[in-house]
Amino acid sequence: MEMPRFSETRSDAEMTPRLSNIRIVQLTPEDWEILRKLKLTSLQQDPIAFLDYQDGMDTYLKRTEYEWRKKLDEQTSSTVYVFAEENGEFIGMVNARIDEKKQEALIQHLYVDPDHRGQMVGKRLLETLLQKLKGRGIGKAKLAVLETQKPAIRLYESLGFEKMSEFLDLRGDRLYKSFRMELVL
Ligand SMILES: CC(C)(COP(=O)(O)OP(=O)(O)OC[C@H]1O[C@@H](n2cnc3c(N)ncnc32)[C@H](O)[C@@H]1OP(=O)(O)O)[C@@H](O)C(=O)NCCC(=O)NCCS
Repeated sequence: MEMPRFSETRSDAEMTPRLSNIRIVQLTPEDWEILRKLKLTSLQQDPIAFLDYQDGMDTYLKRTEYEWRKKLDEQTSSTVYVFAEENGEFIGMVNARIDEKKQEALIQHLYVDPDHRGQMVGKRLLETLLQKLKGRGIGKAKLAVLETQKPAIRLYESLGFEKMSEFLDLRGDRLYKSFRMELVL
């Protein structure tokens, strides 16, 4: 099987050399099927966990190859993606939408495959994402997280994110207590 083209980010290799099999990588538009599969799998696994969950399964299934490719085109896309891979299998991702005017980014879709949780994959994904955002001149990262997502909240706090406010978030047919969190980069 042909391996997808991707490159390990140098900064990540420097930060966490002990986890040699799990690599933090970037994908190109050619690898659009990997992104599609991860989005569908993560939504199946955790239907309301993500800020972009409203896109929903239907939207993802209807999205054309051209649209998926465009998302991974760093030259034109306003969304930054980072992926985790182990022996050719993709086990995690995170993405953030950039608001160039405000020089802010909204983290939308952090996901690690359940069998690979607790191995710092989420942390490495986020660290790499934050470095990429800084590199693009972004001054602040924002996100929203449900009160029930304890591992995610712990992870964000360990990276310096602070709770800014609480609100009620309607996801599916339920209201959830949620936190807005921010990190100045
Ligand atoms: C949140 C998520 C991405 C974390 O991924 P992960 O790879 O397991 O996280 P890491 O191993 O990098 O954990 C880093 C830190 O997060 C916290 N953490 C992770 N898993 C935890 C758990 N099960 N319980 C408590 N804290 C946890 C810890 O602070 C940990 O650092 P520490 O062990 O040094 O204290 C993963 O649980 C997931 O995909 N959840 C479902 C989707 C989701 O909730 N996404 C967030 C949307 S806002």
